[in-house]
Amino acid sequence: MSSPVELARQVAGFDKDQVAAFQRLIRTWRILADLGLGDVLMLAPTQNDPEVYIVLANVRASTAPTLYTHDPVGDRHRAENRPIVDVAFKTGKLQRDVVTLGPHFPDGEAEIVAAPFIANGSVIGVVLRERRLTSRDLLKLEQTYLSLSDRLMAMVAEGSFPFAGKSEPQYGAPRVGDGLLVIDSSRKINFQSPNAMSALHRLGIQRNPTSAKIDELGLDDSFVRSAYAMKTSVIQEIERRDVTVSFRCLPLLGNGEVEGGFILLRDVSELKRRDRMLLSKDATIREIHHRVKNNLQTISSLLRLQARRVQSEEGKFALAESVRRIAAIAIVHETLANDFSEDATGDDAPFEDVARPLIRLIEEGLQSKDNPIRFLLVGEAGRLPLVRSMPLAVVLTELLQNVVDHAFPTGVLPDGGREVTVSFGQSNDELLVRVADNGVGPPEDFDFAEASGLGLTLVHTFVTTELNGTITMGAGDGPEGQTGTFTDLRFPRSWEDRISGPAED
Ligand SMILES: Nc1ncnc2c1ncn2[C@@H]1O[C@H](COP(=O)(O)OP(=O)(O)OP(=O)(O)O)[C@@H](O)[C@H]1O
Ligand SMILES: [Mg+2]
Repeated sequence: MSSPVELARQVAGFDKDQVAAFQRLIRTWRILADLGLGDVLMLAPTQNDPEVYIVLANVRASTAPTLYTHDPVGDRHRAENRPIVDVAFKTGKLQRDVVTLGPHFPDGEAEIVAAPFIANGSVIGVVLRERRLTSRDLLKLEQTYLSLSDRLMAMVAEGSFPFAGKSEPQYGAPRVGDGLLVIDSSRKINFQSPNAMSALHRLGIQRNPTSAKIDELGLDDSFVRSAYAMKTSVIQEIERRDVTVSFRCLPLLGNGEVEGGFILLRDVSELKRRDRMLLSKDATIREIHHRVKNNLQTISSLLRLQARRVQSEEGKFALAESVRRIAAIAIVHETLANDFSEDATGDDAPFEDVARPLIRLIEEGLQSKDNPIRFLLVGEAGRLPLVRSMPLAVVLTELLQNVVDHAFPTGVLPDGGREVTVSFGQSNDELLVRVADNGVGPPEDFDFAEASGLGLTLVHTFVTTELNGTITMGAGDGPEGQTGTFTDLRFPRSWEDRISGPAED
């Protein structure tokens, strides 16, 4: 089963511009169906046989039952079986007809309106509106809906609907059933639906809106003015105390002139309230990270106090190392607490933002300030969720601390100075992290798998179990006599494939 766009491209042979026009139509055409009390379909002749039309897409009305119990997308019709479609396509003129429905609707009749669909000045398909005729009289509201849909269908045939330009946001946009005001070319209201009345009441408007202009009701009507001036649909929210109503004005055009318009309006106060709650959920997650960071700092200072009382050097050293490891974890939480970027979820952050303060942390801990080490950061790691950035931060701290501790024994000063580079690379779904120094290189018979220090043990554990990744470590090719040491880490970015629970060994 192909998608509407695939069908348009492959079966109807639409080019890029035609596909774009078609997409703009299907983003906005629900309103044709809702006001038209029926189904709306888009058909186009097939490339192979122009006498055969294929249904590219359809939309059902939320205001009336559908004629299509099956999915009509992909259905093919010969021109002679759908004469109204064929005539609309070939003449480029709006067609209207009443037909007797097939076997599923024994005594039914349907009204069919076919508008040629125009892209870049030429007819590329037909927009068909099909509505089952009922024996009962239409309500005033339904008559109003239908006359608006008729106007829009005429605009389709003229190429002025869907409106040119960027389509407006769909989220929370008012729909037909939410409330309707019909206005004339001088912006006077001449019809209001019951739901529209309720929404206006909620904004505190008590008077009958008939014959009034929007601004005479005490509302900012700039959205109507700009919709009329720009001949396109315009959305605006109006807020009064704790009530927010979203207004969407659509101008009705004839021969390029504004002949009137209508406004869909919806009370979105509840939606707004939920949005605010979501926003504050983000803020809560940030606050939690902030507090975790504070707690970790408290633990660090307790350990530092303890270290002062310990007599043995070994004990002091062990406590100092723990302080550093805890600080590395605190940095991750601090970064998450301070990440206000647009795509922030509260639970992930660009890892560069973690790596930078980590490096600063190691720099601050450098014993001799007169033999500095240059720390370089290259490439981008992208956003990582907490479950990945936390272990990676610990691993990076250990590797950098090892450079400080082991790469440059006293007297070792490579040409160009002591240097360590942290580089990030991304390939497919993997993140590559390389830490490379220009120091003395690993000890002669060094075997990473056999390394028994706590530092590399932590690196091994975190990379294999928490990051589901691999480590390669060895002698680099540093300049002139200095081989240096490099460590490569490689792990998948997406965390669904993360091994759950600790490894067996
Ligand atoms: N960048 C490096 N340059 C030279 N040697 C290194 C480097 N990184 C690690 N090594 C060697 O690997 C050994 C193991 O490192 P590891 O971090 O596991 O333990 P450690 O640093 O000695 O102790 P700890 O990290 O527990 O304080 C080090 O003792 C050192 O000999
Ligand atoms: Mg170490």
